[in-house]
Amino acid sequence: MTVKLQFYRCPICKNLVQILHEGEGSLICCGQEMDLLQAKTDEQMAEKHVPKFMLGEDGSEFIQVGSIPHPMTDEHYIEFIETVSDDKNLVSITFLYPNQEPKKMLNNSVVINKAYEYCNLHGLWEGKRD
Ligand SMILES: [Fe+2]
Repeated sequence: MTVKLQFYRCPICKNLVQILHEGEGSLICCGQEMDLLQAKTDEQMAEKHVPKFMLGEDGSEFIQVGSIPHPMTDEHYIEFIETVSDDKNLVSITFLYPNQEPKKMLNNSVVINKAYEYCNLHGLWEGKRD
């Protein structure tokens, strides 16, 4: 049984999927079950991976990956930042690429309290508003 907004990854080809509609079946890729990803929050390397809610000098709010910004090199970078509203009715993904800043601007008209990010080497991380 899947749950809305869970992430699953193929252990072989690294396909990554997110559940938009729950179902009873399991997800199969490359001939075997995909792994359910549990977002990390406070393990080693958290300071460069946990999404942080921050305020810019102009008052605009944004998410930055890491209290120390995460590297954005060709070999090691943040693939996307996802924000989720409390009721899970608004989900927004910003895809990122090497040499960009590891950040996502927030739309001030919607209160967002939770964010996820996916590092190509270190997987899925979750951060909450302080
Ligand atoms: Fe990383």
